[in-house]
Amino acid sequence: MKHLHSINELTPEQMMAVIERALAFKQGKKAHYSGYAANLFFENSTRTKCSFEMAERRLGLDVIPFETSTSSVTKGESLYDTCKTLESIGVDVLVIRHPDNAYYDQLEVLNIPVVNGGDGSGQHPSQCLLDLMTIYEEYGTFKDLKVLICGDIINSRVARSNYTALTKLGAHVQFAAPEHWQDYTLDAAYVAIDDVIGDIDVCMLLRVQHERHADGQSFEEADYHSRYGLTTTRYNQLKDGAIVMHPAPVNRGVEIDSALVEADKSRIFKQMENGVYTRMSILSHILDN
Ligand code: CP
Repeated sequence: MKHLHSINELTPEQMMAVIERALAFKQGKKAHYSGYAANLFFENSTRTKCSFEMAERRLGLDVIPFETSTSSVTKGESLYDTCKTLESIGVDVLVIRHPDNAYYDQLEVLNIPVVNGGDGSGQHPSQCLLDLMTIYEEYGTFKDLKVLICGDIINSRVARSNYTALTKLGAHVQFAAPEHWQDYTLDAAYVAIDDVIGDIDVCMLLRVQHERHADGQSFEEADYHSRYGLTTTRYNQLKDGAIVMHPAPVNRGVEIDSALVEADKSRIFKQMENGVYTRMSILSHILDN
């Protein structure tokens, strides 16, 4: 891998290679790299930023602190000039989250790799790969798994990346969403959650992306929860071996009943744990190149 901008650029074999190495790191595999990483987050983050930093440190990389709020971005410096500056001073790999879809296109000319930590409503490839690792750890295959992705599809880079990857790997993906959050650029069927809840292997809930909604757009949390959320009634209808996922942060009581966030079938905190190993795997694949 030369970089990781979008899950679309990975073949099934490359996705499996990332997952297998992540599992090896989880089982104790060690690796040591020298060099410098910088994490540029132009949108807020807890999981992605902290777990990339954890992954970088575990791999032996030095992390150059960078906060947009104290950088020359506040003086109007462009994304390209910011990244070119970090390349010039000797940084070896950049992890970037940015509100603009496909911001990475303008950085193709850099001589250092860019790992996309999320671009607008575009892609979230490292989240996708950690989700794949979590599913694979559970089932040992993707073939014919029934996955329901439920919620704010149109604003979700997680939905976009996971739909593409899971479909390529042989899973059967369906969506459930209110009509105004459906995205017909993706070729999945929309279903009612109650029609499929007892038949799915993976119930993947999405965060309601309030920050991407138009000002004044009405949203009734209790109504959403009763129509699209994972309630205790729906949880009890899941198959014995089914799992519940959510990229987090969770809007408790909206996408999922608060009492279910750490229920037996929930893999939400397992996803976060796996995020570190997945990001170690992504970075090591890129640095090996
Ligand atoms: N899942 C995820 O991307 O979380 P953060 O926004 O906290 O990084």
